[in-house]
Amino acid sequence: MTAEYQVHGAVAVITLNNPPVNGMGLETRTAAVKGIQRALADDAVKAIVITGAGKAFSGGADIKEFNTPKALTEPSLHTLIATAESATKPVVAAIHSVCMGGGLELSLGCHYRVAMPGAQIALPEVKLGLLPGAGGTQRLPRVLGLEPALNMIVSGTPVPSEQLPALFDEIYAADVDLLQSAVAFAEKIADVRPLPKVRERKVDYPNHEAFLQFSRNTVKAMAGPFPAPLECVETVAASVTMKFEDGLKFERERFLHLIQTTESKALRHAFFAERMASKVPDVPADTPVRTIQRAAIVGAGTMGGGIAMNFLNAGIPVTLLETRQEALDKGIATIRKNYENTVKKGKLTAEKLEQRMGLLNSTLAYEDIAGADIVVEAVFEDMGVKEAVFRKLDEVMKPGAILATNTSTLDVDQIAAFTGRPQDVIGTHFFSPANVMKLLEIVRGSQTGKDVLATALALSRKLKKTGVVSGVCDGFIGNRMIEQYSRQAGFLLEEGALPEQVDKAAEKFGFAMGPFRMGDLAGNDIGWAIRKRRYVEKPEISYSRTADLLCEMGRYGQKTGAGWYDYKPGDRTAYPNAQVNAMIVQHSADLGIGRRKISDKEIVERLVYALVNEGALILEEGVALRASDIDMVYLTGYGFPLYRGGPMFYADTVGLPNVLAAIHQYARGHHGEAWQPAPLLVKLAEANLGFNSK
Ligand code: 3HC
Ligand code: NAI
Repeated sequence: MTAEYQVHGAVAVITLNNPPVNGMGLETRTAAVKGIQRALADDAVKAIVITGAGKAFSGGADIKEFNTPKALTEPSLHTLIATAESATKPVVAAIHSVCMGGGLELSLGCHYRVAMPGAQIALPEVKLGLLPGAGGTQRLPRVLGLEPALNMIVSGTPVPSEQLPALFDEIYAADVDLLQSAVAFAEKIADVRPLPKVRERKVDYPNHEAFLQFSRNTVKAMAGPFPAPLECVETVAASVTMKFEDGLKFERERFLHLIQTTESKALRHAFFAERMASKVPDVPADTPVRTIQRAAIVGAGTMGGGIAMNFLNAGIPVTLLETRQEALDKGIATIRKNYENTVKKGKLTAEKLEQRMGLLNSTLAYEDIAGADIVVEAVFEDMGVKEAVFRKLDEVMKPGAILATNTSTLDVDQIAAFTGRPQDVIGTHFFSPANVMKLLEIVRGSQTGKDVLATALALSRKLKKTGVVSGVCDGFIGNRMIEQYSRQAGFLLEEGALPEQVDKAAEKFGFAMGPFRMGDLAGNDIGWAIRKRRYVEKPEISYSRTADLLCEMGRYGQKTGAGWYDYKPGDRTAYPNAQVNAMIVQHSADLGIGRRKISDKEIVERLVYALVNEGALILEEGVALRASDIDMVYLTGYGFPLYRGGPMFYADTVGLPNVLAAIHQYARGHHGEAWQPAPLLVKLAEANLGFNSK
C-alpha cells in the first residue's frame, strides 16, 4: 500500500505510506490522487487531511525514480498538487517529523497546513544539485516572504516547524495526537469559503531587484562549480517578476535542465553511495550489535588523540593508554588545545569543553582499560610493536571487547592472529586529522565476526563518520589507490612537469589539493619509508626517485618548513623552490630523458585514471563491495571533487571505452609498465557498461 484512505466522521484521511520516508513515487502519487478524487465524490466527506505514516510526512519526490520512465508517468507531482489545490473541499496537510522537497511542495498546494513542533521543514533539492521543481520556488516566497524563502531554498537547510509560524495554521504541543487534532481542525474549517490558495497571494518586497542582485552576487561567489544555487535564485526571482503560471513553467524548465547535469547526477550518486556504504550483503541490518559504552585508545599520538576526540564528542568515556607519562600529558594537552580552538571559533561552549574533557581518563596500566567495550590501537606502524600490544590486549580485555587497529598498511589478519580471539579483531582506519575527517575505513579481517562488523558500522554513524568496509590488502581501498596516483605524479616530474603545474592541474580539476601539496602536508618521509620497504619487498614496482632525492635534501614537508615547496612559519601557502625544481630537471637529465611540455589534460588523466584502474582491481578482488564505496572513500577521505562524484563515477561519465583507450596510450609511454588495464575495466568497456551500471 502506498497511500491509505480512511474516513473519520466527515473527514477523509489520506496517509502517504511508502517507507522509509514516504518518497512520492508513482504508486504513492497515484494512490494520493485517487484518494482525493474518492473524497470529492463522497457527499458525506466535507474535508480532507493528508498525512504521512511512520517517520515522515514525506521526504519529497522519490529520488530513486529520477531519470526513469516512472518519473515522467502521470500523475506527476504537479498533477497531485494541482488536484489538491483545485479540490472543491478543503485539503489540510498534517505534518510531522520530516516534510521536505516535494512533500513540502504538496503541503503548499493544500489549503491549510497544521504541524507538530520539531518537524524538519526543508526544500533540500539544492543539495542534490536541483531546485524545487513542483512549485516550491513560487509558493514558498508567497507564504514566507522573499528573503526567508530564498534562504531556505538556496541553503536547503531544514528549519524546525515552530520557527515557521507563517507556514502553518496551527502548531500543536508536543504531546498532542496529530491526526485527532488535524481532523478536528478540518471539521472546524470545512465550510469556510473561498478556499485559501497560496498561488493567489502576492510576494511583496519593495526594491526586490536590489535584493535579488545582491543574492545573485553572494550565491555566485559561494556556489563554486555547482549551477543549482544560482538557478534557485533565478526561479525564486520569478515568483516576484512573473505571473504564477509563468513562474511555474520557468521553474519546471530549469528543474528539467538541472536534473540532466553531471553535477546533480554526482550529488545524487553521493547521496545513495553514502547510505549504501553501510550495507554489507552478508551482514543483514538486523545483525545484533555489541554495546559500546566505554572506549580505550592505545597510543596518544597524532591519531590516538584525534580518535579519542571522536568518542568524547559522542559522549562515550575514553581511557588513553601510553607507555610514558610525558606522552600521555602531551596527548591530553593536544586534545584540550584542539577543543579550545573550537571554543575560540564559537563552535563549542566552554562548558561543553569541560564536559568532554571530563569523560577522558588516562593510564599507563593495561588493567585500567580491561573493562572497555572497544579498544582502538594507534601505536607506531611497526608489526613488532603491534604484536606486543595485541598480545597484551588479548590477555587483559574482558570477553566480548572489540579489539580494533588503526593501522594504515599492516595486515589485519596477521594482527588478529596475535590474539586468541580473531573474531573480535577489526581495522578501524581513521584519517588524519581524525577529529575532522569524515572517512572511516572499516577493515574486515578474514575472521572478523559479523556482529563486530555491524557494531563498527553502527559506531561509525554514532561518531558521525562515513564508514566504508574494505577487505584486507596493502593500503586498503584508499591508500592502495593513492599509491598509483602518486607514482604517476612522480613519473610526470621525470618527463617534464614541475610540482606546481601538476598541483595546479589537479586543483583545477577540483581536488582539494594536488599530489605535491598533499605530500608536503602529510609528510614526504612517510611515503619514503614505505618505498624503502617496497624496494626490498617488491623490487618489480617502479617509482620515480625524485621524492627520495627530495627527502635526502631533508625536505619532509610543512613540518620541516620545506618540501616540494617552501613554507613560511604559520603559513600554509606553498612557494615554489628553485633548488627543488633544478633537482627535478637534473634528475631527468641523469635518466637521459628529454623533458617535454605536458598538457594539463594529460596530467589529470594520468592521475585520475591511475586511481580508476586500481579501483577496478580492488572491485574485482572484492576488497571493495561496490564501486560507490570506492567513490565514498575518495569523496570523504581524499578531497576528490564532489561535483565529479568520485573516481569510479567520474570514469563512468567519461565513458569506460575512453578511459581504456587513454590507458592503452599511456601504456606506450614513459613507465608504460605501470599501466596494466584492470580486467574488469576491459570487460566493462567492451560491453559499454559503467562501474555503477545496474
Ligand atoms: N526518495 C527516495 N528515498 C529516500 C528519499 C527520497 N526523497 N529520502 C530518503 N530516502 C531513503 C534513503 O535512501 C534511505 O534508504 P535506505 O534505508 O534504503 O538506505 C532511507 O530513505 C533513510 O534515509 P536516511 O538514512 O537519510 O534517514 P534519516 O532518517 O537520517 O533522514 C531524510 C531522512 C531527512 C528524509 C533524509 O533521507 C533526506 O534528507 N533525504 C533527502 C530529502 C530530499 O532531498 N528531498 C528532496 C527530493 S527531490 C524533490 O523533492 C524534487 C521535487 O522538488 C520535484
Ligand atoms: P604517532 O607516532 O604520532 O603516535 C604513536 C603513539 O603511540 C606515540 O605517542 C607512542 O608513544 C605510542 N606508543 C608506541 N608504542 C606504544 C605501546 N606499546 N603502547 C602504548 N603506546 C605506544 O603515530 P600516529 O601518526 O598517531 O600513527 C598511529 C597509527 O595510526 C599507525 O599505525 C599509523 O600507521 C596509523 N595512521 C596514521 C595516520 C597519520 O596520518 N598519521 C593516518 C591513519 C593511520
